[in-house]
Amino acid sequence: MHDRFAFRPAHRSDLPAVLAVQRQAHGDAFQENAEVFESRLEFAPDAAWVAEREGLVVGYLFAHPWKGRTPPALNCVVEALPADCDTAYLHDLAVLPGERGGGAAMGLFERFERWCRAKGLGRSMLVAVGAAGGFWSRLGFERLPDDAALAAKLSPYGAGAACMVRARLSEGAKS
Ligand SMILES: CC(C)(COP(=O)(O)OP(=O)(O)OC[C@H]1O[C@@H](n2cnc3c(N)ncnc32)[C@H](O)[C@@H]1OP(=O)(O)O)[C@@H](O)C(=O)NCCC(=O)NCCS
Repeated sequence: MHDRFAFRPAHRSDLPAVLAVQRQAHGDAFQENAEVFESRLEFAPDAAWVAEREGLVVGYLFAHPWKGRTPPALNCVVEALPADCDTAYLHDLAVLPGERGGGAAMGLFERFERWCRAKGLGRSMLVAVGAAGGFWSRLGFERLPDDAALAAKLSPYGAGAACMVRARLSEGAKS
């Protein structure tokens, strides 16, 4: 199903294309700085991938190890990873509007799952924005109840943003 796309690790040289995809996928309100993605690549260079079609970047997934149940703030540079990381934090997944529905997101997510397994990170966490909650629910993520600290962290992500966690790797990721 993913034959339409080629998947490969992301590099610093991909960042202009990644930022362009983010702008088109999420809109101007969620545009992050290049330094935000650079810091993810610095601390987790093996946890970022792009999907290409005909040599052009049409989607990406960035992740990194994390700890606990509070996500990093939106548009924040990672200065250092916490000690004893116990969670795979999926920083962002996005696909260009015109390239959706063809399996790009699933191809990227499969690579994320393989990385989680290789790192021994059984728990995954992310912030679902916009209409993406249903996409993550289908993949086994569940919404964390908001407390005051979490609600404050989620507020910049826009109305309806939710922190979602998945406690275990899916059956498919165990093979
Ligand atoms: C969410 C997103 C990455 C999905 O990309 P995509 O390339 O269309 O996804 P795929 O083609 O791999 O679809 C995988 C499956 O998820 C389903 N799906 C996609 N979006 C969905 C949604 N919002 N709710 C429920 N299911 C969804 C697809 O129908 C497909 O199901 P199928 O395999 O049974 O046909 C894309 O819509 C996007 O970039 N959205 C804007 C950015 C965003 O919100 N990213 C998530 C960050 S929280």
